[in-house]
Amino acid sequence: MSLIDQLQKRAAVKKFDPSKKISAEQLDQLQSAIQLAPSSLGLQSFKVIVVQDAETRQKLRAAGYNQPQITDSSALFVFASLTSLDEAFGKKFIDLVANVRNVERESLAGYEQMILGKLSSLTDEQKLAWSHKQTYIALGVLVSQASELGIDAAPMEGFDAAKFDEILGLKELGLTTSVIAAVGHRADDDVYSKMIKVRRPKSELFIHV
Ligand SMILES: Cc1cc2nc3c(=O)[nH]c(=O)nc-3n(C[C@H](O)[C@H](O)[C@H](O)COP(=O)(O)O)c2cc1C
Repeated sequence: MSLIDQLQKRAAVKKFDPSKKISAEQLDQLQSAIQLAPSSLGLQSFKVIVVQDAETRQKLRAAGYNQPQITDSSALFVFASLTSLDEAFGKKFIDLVANVRNVERESLAGYEQMILGKLSSLTDEQKLAWSHKQTYIALGVLVSQASELGIDAAPMEGFDAAKFDEILGLKELGLTTSVIAAVGHRADDDVYSKMIKVRRPKSELFIHV
């Protein structure tokens, strides 16, 4: 089945079947997709908390407008942005590039200057907004990968980020919640996924120049 066909079939499921769990291998594949998502300058200035613990999810549900997807899915992905992107963060990334590509660190001086220049040009607020955007790209890749695996993924913005941060202890980790996604399998009586998909026509969505 083509990706377009899979995307036609996917839905932001409202009612998951708690008895239908995704496998550990599938969970790992979803994490691989997030890991491979593109990000600005390659910095990946976020982390993803994969929540399966029932008690924690119950608390998160209360902070998520009681949305049942939070507890009844197989796992909840919490995309969290780094709250501090300092020079050390940029330098550590260059260390990683040098290590993975097995090149002299000095040969990356231009790349390093570009990253450090970008980071120093932004306020803390701008950096956080920038990181939040990166999490949404990763979210999109997760949703696409899930559909390819026949797994339902429900992206959600309906939650109290400050409460999520508190429940998951994110502040101490230098993180703050950006967006979340529940993954699992839809319940047979999930009404939403049976509805016809509504999308604006291409003539409204695209402008060709
Ligand atoms: C960033 C984002 C946040 C969303 N937040 C919620 C949410 O909090 N609760 C919910 O039920 N659906 C949420 N949705 C699902 C959208 O309503 C859904 O994707 C849209 O209506 C299109 O439906 P479809 O994804 O099933 O095709 C969210 C989707 C996105 C991309």
